Amino acid sequence: MKTIHTIAELRSALAGQAGTAFVPTMGNLHDGHLALVRQAATLGRPVVASIFVNRLQFLPHEDFDRYPRTLARDAELLQGAGCDILFAPDEGELYPEPQVFRVAPPPALADILEGEFRPGFFGGVCTVVQKLFGIVQPAVAVFGRKDYQQWRVIAAMARQFALPLQVVAGETVRAADGLALSSRNAYLSADERGEAPALAAALQALAAAARAAADPDALAAAEAAAAQALRARGWAPDYLTVRRREDLLPPDAAALAAGEPLVALAAARLGATRLIDNYEF
Ligand code: PAF
Repeated sequence: MKTIHTIAELRSALAGQAGTAFVPTMGNLHDGHLALVRQAATLGRPVVASIFVNRLQFLPHEDFDRYPRTLARDAELLQGAGCDILFAPDEGELYPEPQVFRVAPPPALADILEGEFRPGFFGGVCTVVQKLFGIVQPAVAVFGRKDYQQWRVIAAMARQFALPLQVVAGETVRAADGLALSSRNAYLSADERGEAPALAAALQALAAAARAAADPDALAAAEAAAAQALRARGWAPDYLTVRRREDLLPPDAAALAAGEPLVALAAARLGATRLIDNYEF
């Protein structure tokens, strides 16, 4: 595996290569990321992964400064997972001047759920992803379903801008007790780590209640009860809700009655750590 830090060097390394399979990351890799790289490696294309902690997607009070930068370890893991090229630009390389051209994702998709609690987050994500797509020019880009809304927003962006690439989603990797792997799990204390799988369990319980809900009022009651049950365990939920899978709008009575495929999504704080997860049903 080659590690490359500049756009010019990456372009010359990719010149004449067949379209690549691309896995963008912010580093501090875990098995969830590596599963995406392994998935990319099955596509019969050169695999490019990027590591870049993107300032544009962090709010001022969020963990941009303390987000772990673990490049040497990440590079070893990527090599073992079948990555061919690691692109790891520094900020000066990706943002040599203030990034004043930005992608403005539609509020209906990007200002709800994560976007409601992290204003500007998806604008920052879409801007860096669009820029990385322009640099890497992949044929396929792989995103984790764990960041469900992010995957849906980026897939919609690629479709609307007619980007010449396919966005594919990789499965969430979970610890044996059900906790979705996330870089932020490292912030949990031992007690919190013991409690953390309750979020995935709450989503599954909510999905079961949603399947029994005859109309949106019953669904809202099930969502409120699920959030209350988490609060009683010491969590502070931002949202715990059931949505349609593609546009993330609330299902109407017809969708509930028809048993349309849905997704339960949650974000909740446990102590100082904010976790997100989802469950398709
Ligand atoms: O999911 C992430 O790690 C980031 O949001 C991404 C897609 C690499 C953009 O910075």
